[in-house]
Amino acid sequence: MPEPVDLIITNISRCATLRGAKRPRTGAELERLSIVKGAAIAVRHGRIVAVGKARSVSRKVRPKQIIDAGGRFAAPGFVDPHTHIVFAASREHEFDMRVRGKSYVEITRAGGGIHNSVRMLRKATRRALQSQAMPRLDRMLSHGTTTAEVKSGYGLTLRDEIKMLEVIRNLGRRHPVDLVPTFLGAHEIPREYRRKKNRYIELLINEMLPRVASRRLAEFCDIFTEAHVYNIKDSRRILTAARDLGFKLKLHADEIKAMGGAELAGELGAVSADHLVMVSPRGIRAMAKGGVIPVLLPATSFALGAKAYAPARKMIEAGLPVALATDCNPGTSMTENMQFVLSIACTQLRMTPAEALTAATINAAYAIGRGDRVGSLDIGKAADIVLYDAPDERYIPYHMGVNHAACVLKNGKAHGVPYAGHTLL
Ligand code: NIG
Ligand code: FE
Repeated sequence: MPEPVDLIITNISRCATLRGAKRPRTGAELERLSIVKGAAIAVRHGRIVAVGKARSVSRKVRPKQIIDAGGRFAAPGFVDPHTHIVFAASREHEFDMRVRGKSYVEITRAGGGIHNSVRMLRKATRRALQSQAMPRLDRMLSHGTTTAEVKSGYGLTLRDEIKMLEVIRNLGRRHPVDLVPTFLGAHEIPREYRRKKNRYIELLINEMLPRVASRRLAEFCDIFTEAHVYNIKDSRRILTAARDLGFKLKLHADEIKAMGGAELAGELGAVSADHLVMVSPRGIRAMAKGGVIPVLLPATSFALGAKAYAPARKMIEAGLPVALATDCNPGTSMTENMQFVLSIACTQLRMTPAEALTAATINAAYAIGRGDRVGSLDIGKAADIVLYDAPDERYIPYHMGVNHAACVLKNGKAHGVPYAGHTLL
């Protein structure tokens, strides 16, 4: 007896299922996409119930609805594991200043950078922040992102950090893209604490972290560990307090200088360490030992016009499960587009298109604690599927700067973009 299902997607010429071990992928596994040619996917209650050769899937199911993929290439929805998409104003004037030769840290020291976004966010209402973030989420979804992490960190007061996290929670409820919230109260030292950093650290530890924990507003705690903000000692103190309250940990580590951020991530057993442009060989070893996922953000190096990119190949050789993210933020990476991140990952990090796709799906899912639910097209997982107007995974980063996603399904529901034949039975 064929099983009744809600939907079958048929006529997929090539399907990158990413099926494999139930853990982040390392080494040669990064290239294994578990391709099925001539595939179909069956969906019930938003989840995948069958995936494989079209003939065998269609024999097993009786669908209410059919989507004809028109011979397109299918892959799991992207997971974007590092974003700052809640902000109150863009910062193109800083982009212009950087193009003319000012550095990111110089602009920050002059009261720009994160401080600029903090000033604007403190003035903004929840409603304004939410309505500005919505089109960013729409753009993410239309480019194939179906799950994303979002950080606070432009409030830097108890009230404004809570405001940001509440906006993130609301966005997650209203928008099809699933959101994973991260508390980043240690994103900068607020201007009003410039000469009393320790007082702000105490506020973080004694008031902000406990309040965010008791209201369950964030799953992760992150920090900007860098010479001009939080040093290793500060970072260890804040992250240890966060861990004791039940937060999972992330770090912005070794982006501008190698200062031991990756080593600290390994020591504390952080889920991920992000950026890592300057990571040291010791840092790489510490991450391998501590089971830390390196989240690389090559669009940030690109947007900063930097010469240096994270040493992805060294990390892959060291057995680390590299992941990729946009770092979407108004200062250093104004893009929602993971397809563009794949292009930069291939040309600048020398990752192969297959490695980049793995890094942007299943490994990215593990980087935000969602590896059991999304990131591959496997039975029981969410039916988060992108149908691309592209013959295979290589074509997406190769034909750069445009959107190849013809249809994006989130929990089995097709969203906002034209797609091939669609029959209601
Ligand atoms: O990930 N590095 C720190 N945070 C962001 C930049 C945020 C900003 O400039 O607004 C990043 O690059
Ligand atoms: Fe960031």
